[in-house]
Amino acid sequence: MRRVALVPALFLAGCEGWQSATDPGGPAARELHGLFLLFTISCGLVWIAVMLVLAAALLRRRAAEVRPEPERRPTLAVGAAVAATVLIVTGLTVASYLATRSIAAAPPDPLVIRLRGYQWWWEVTYDDPRPDRILLTANEIHIPTGRPVRIELASADVIHSFWVPGLSGKQDMIPGRSNSLTFTAERPGLYRGQCAEFCGLQHAHMALHLIAEPPEVFERWRDAQLAEAAAPVGAEEEAGRRIVEGRACGACHTVRGTQAAGQLGPDLTHVGGRAYLAAGMLPTTRGSLAAWIADPQTIKPGNNMPMIPLTADELQAVTAYLVRLR
Ligand code: CUA
Repeated sequence: MRRVALVPALFLAGCEGWQSATDPGGPAARELHGLFLLFTISCGLVWIAVMLVLAAALLRRRAAEVRPEPERRPTLAVGAAVAATVLIVTGLTVASYLATRSIAAAPPDPLVIRLRGYQWWWEVTYDDPRPDRILLTANEIHIPTGRPVRIELASADVIHSFWVPGLSGKQDMIPGRSNSLTFTAERPGLYRGQCAEFCGLQHAHMALHLIAEPPEVFERWRDAQLAEAAAPVGAEEEAGRRIVEGRACGACHTVRGTQAAGQLGPDLTHVGGRAYLAAGMLPTTRGSLAAWIADPQTIKPGNNMPMIPLTADELQAVTAYLVRLR
């Protein structure tokens, strides 16, 4: 399942994507994985060596108690241990420096994406020199394979941390400060990410999905996302749109092309096309949309989405409308 290029197939199969620092999908993650292996193996060997020397010393001491030997100064052994320690620590420091330098290098012509952390979701903005091509979405980042991506990180409330282990290291998202992280995805796929800094009650439920796809697929996705929301088809979806515009939904959420223009919650213009709802909590289906809207505080206690009283028919209409916003 892991190296399948067809992301839609992954979604259909219910795969959450892989979230593993030991299975790098690009050069930055590979540097970190190499560093991880180097440190783990070197420190493991040092530990084994220390344990062997300790065991030898204990055995010798026991033998010496039975048959005393003339005292010898262990100058050579101590000197060798100090030299080995200096060499190993220096080697690890140099390897760490080289890996960090390679990760921090600024490649030419990166795709710039702005990511803003909220309790507990991610706002994603694709910058573009043309203002009409600036794109706002949430919780799901699409990137082209083979092209460097620079993620500019900010926070709207508390400290969060961006971490997609299959592609890069971690970087904090700090209110009032801008950080950035650059990486490239070499192979297409669905990479799961996770907020890596405790940020409140639902920190563990602040996931995001990063979808790396061939450049032409990415461009098609981007063009489709720039379009306004799909028009409702039929009376039920029409009723759903009226509820989204006229009741509390539109006060917090934007659905471009309608009167819903709130800025507090995730943009819903293409919510039906995203794999997950509520920052990775539920797969996007009509049923999970209904469950989420009917009682968001039971699914994700403490989040900012209030419960809007809707009749069963109204809930049906809203979900019929939202699930079609692809
Ligand atoms: Cu956001 Cu933890």
